[in-house]
Amino acid sequence: MKSFLHVQDIGDLDAALKEALEVKRTPFAWQNLGKNKTIILIFFNNSLRTRLSSQKAAQNLGMNPIVLNINGESWKLETETGVVMDGDKSEHLREAIPVIGSYCDIIGVRSFARFEDRAFDYNETILNQFIKYSGKPVISLESATVHPCQAFADLITIKEHTGKPRPKVVMSWAPHPGALPQAVPNSFAEWMNASDVDFVITHPEGYELDTRFTGNARIEYDQMKAFEGADFVYAKNWSSYRDYGKILCKDRQWTVSKRQMDVTNDAFFMHCLPVRRNMIVTDDVIDSPKSLVIPEAANRVVSAQVVMKRMLEEI
Ligand code: CP
Repeated sequence: MKSFLHVQDIGDLDAALKEALEVKRTPFAWQNLGKNKTIILIFFNNSLRTRLSSQKAAQNLGMNPIVLNINGESWKLETETGVVMDGDKSEHLREAIPVIGSYCDIIGVRSFARFEDRAFDYNETILNQFIKYSGKPVISLESATVHPCQAFADLITIKEHTGKPRPKVVMSWAPHPGALPQAVPNSFAEWMNASDVDFVITHPEGYELDTRFTGNARIEYDQMKAFEGADFVYAKNWSSYRDYGKILCKDRQWTVSKRQMDVTNDAFFMHCLPVRRNMIVTDDVIDSPKSLVIPEAANRVVSAQVVMKRMLEEI
């Protein structure tokens, strides 16, 4: 695997899930695979889970993880091409990336959507420069349009908890005070479409995601109708793709509460975290025994470890 952005990059999903469960059972079985190997984890944005789970996954494989926070720890990096660098950016990505590549064997990059220019974000302009100029395998640790390590962990969690061959999975938009990227719902949609689940997306009008990710998934604008008979509810906020980066709705009727969960098939509740309590989901739902937010976050180590393991096996 040269880079990890999309579900196709992992290949056969059943094989990947089987491997994930093996990694979860015996996390230290590949300690020699990463011996004398280094992964550099670059963060242009904040993180709790991705930073810690990626480091833990690398350590489980015997690798040496190095974390670099671009904001505050490094030179400010210029990302545009052909500019006169007379501002506050001291170094260009064109030099920084191959330098980083020369110090490591695998690179992970977190670089959120900026919401200044949809084409810049949806072309994955930052991540693709790492892929092009580093000469090393690159993992998206949530880039402008995708969060594949999260979606893989979500799928592992669903497979671990489902009692059905084809569960109903509902991804629901929920309100949030800020404008959030579409990366998590894009990837979740992409991975659910590739899995054997009955997948439904519900959101207010205007929040349609890019169809390159949602494909033929059913869109249901009536949230209560969408929740009927659901086995898994995956809540997430995102800003508008059409009116790019805009907040079109703050209606707290969309907050996931007992009212919606009561029409499900006693569904599990999922969220990638961090979550705004009583905006995205009410306390009673997230604190209930059906909430999977902690096991889901724990599986981030597993998904990251499978991806790193496969990259190491090809080096
Ligand atoms: N879910 C997730 O990616 O969490 P962090 O932003 O804390 O890494």
